Amino acid sequence: MATELKLYRSSIGKKALMAATGLVLFLFIVAHLLGNLLVFAGPDSLNAYAKKLRDLGAVLWLARISLLSALVIHIWAAVKLTIENRRARPVRYAYKATIETTYAARTMMISGLIVFAYIIYHLLHFTFRVTNPRISHMTDAMGHHDVYSMVVLSFQNLWITFTYVLAMALLCIHLSHGISSMFQSLGFNNEKSIPMIQKVARITALIIFLGYASIPFSILFRWVRLPGGVL
Ligand code: HEM
Repeated sequence: MATELKLYRSSIGKKALMAATGLVLFLFIVAHLLGNLLVFAGPDSLNAYAKKLRDLGAVLWLARISLLSALVIHIWAAVKLTIENRRARPVRYAYKATIETTYAARTMMISGLIVFAYIIYHLLHFTFRVTNPRISHMTDAMGHHDVYSMVVLSFQNLWITFTYVLAMALLCIHLSHGISSMFQSLGFNNEKSIPMIQKVARITALIIFLGYASIPFSILFRWVRLPGGVL
């Protein structure tokens, strides 16, 4: 009994950790989307924004370290909880259809791991700039890092656009369950509030997907182009 209680308490603790770190990651995703949407305002706006971020220096590094810690804790707690749940229920449910869960809820681990793999690719692509030699050293007329041209040249490639949109779709599925789980861990878990929270979570995830996907699609279809160029 004592071990069961200990396990239960530690699983509540891990769920709270997942909710708190999930919130940090979610806030980053929203802020990053708002920053990236500046691509529609043109090269000067996006490049000036990127420069301002870089100029933050130590504050930027603090934010990066916090974000990375949140990501590591989020994944660690998810893996631990999954292992503990399997140990507590070694025989899987014989008839899964009787359990009321959504597709997003059942695939949280796999969608999460694919989004994690995407983040690694994304960092290699835009932060370390090693996956695409065409964009490795780009500067604008002011001599600043030309984030705008780097993004536009990248998404003119069908495969890069396809990879990003697919990853955004999985992120959206992950968030649609993650956001509602977060609210439930925070205590909004009565019968009345759950359907409402699930609806808000789905709509929020869809808006985030549309916002992010609008960038590669607008570039692929040449609605957003290189400055003054025919491309
Ligand atoms: C259309 C979608 C996206 C675009 C165009 C985009 C664009 C960028 C660019 C240009 C950078 C490098 C900024 C610089 O070096 O100045 C960057 C960094 C980053 N992006 Fe994205 N991003 C997208 C989606 C995402 C998503 C969905 C996530 C997370 C799930 C994400 C996470 C990150 C992280 C963690 C960094 C590193 C931030 C840093 O170094 O401070 N991005 N992104």
